Amino acid sequence: MNANEIRMVGDPVLRTPTAPVTAFGPGLVRLVEAMFAAMQAAGGVGLAANQIGVDAAVFVMDFQGERAVVVNPVLVVPTESPVITDMEGCLSLPGRHHATPRSARAEVTGQDLDGRAVRVAGEGLVARCLQHEVDHLGGVLYLDRLPRGDRARAWREALIDPVA
Ligand code: NI
Repeated sequence: MNANEIRMVGDPVLRTPTAPVTAFGPGLVRLVEAMFAAMQAAGGVGLAANQIGVDAAVFVMDFQGERAVVVNPVLVVPTESPVITDMEGCLSLPGRHHATPRSARAEVTGQDLDGRAVRVAGEGLVARCLQHEVDHLGGVLYLDRLPRGDRARAWREALIDPVA
C-alpha cells in the first residue's frame, strides 16, 4: 500500500482517535507535505492524518490556495451559532454525499508546525470543514452526524456497497 494512500471507510484507523503530537520537527513537516499531496491528488479541501494511516492529531485544509495546518486542534462552536444542513462528502467515502447538519460557525485552536498557538475560524463551508476534520481526528465520520433516520441506511450503503 502506498504510504500516502487515502484510507477508506471500513478501515479501523478512521475509527481510532489520534494521539496528540508532541514532536515538532522535520517528521511533522514531512507528514503535512504528504497530507497536502494526497489531498490535492484526490481533489479535496481537507484531510486528517489518520486518513493516510498516521496516528497524529493534525489536519490540513486548502480553500482555493488558502492553506491551513492545525496540530492538536480543539474545536470551539459558538453556542449561539445556528445549525445548517448542507451536502457533505469525504475523501474516505468517494462518490457519496449526504445532507449533514453542522454549526454555521466554528473555530479551532491548536498549534502550527513550530508548536506556536494558532487559531482558524470560519463560517459556512470553512466551518463545516473544521468540524469534519476535527471529527476525523477523534475517530468520528460525517455519517455519524446524519439525522437518526438517515444514519443507519447511509452506513449500510457505505459499508456494503462501496462506490469506489
Ligand atoms: Ni473526511
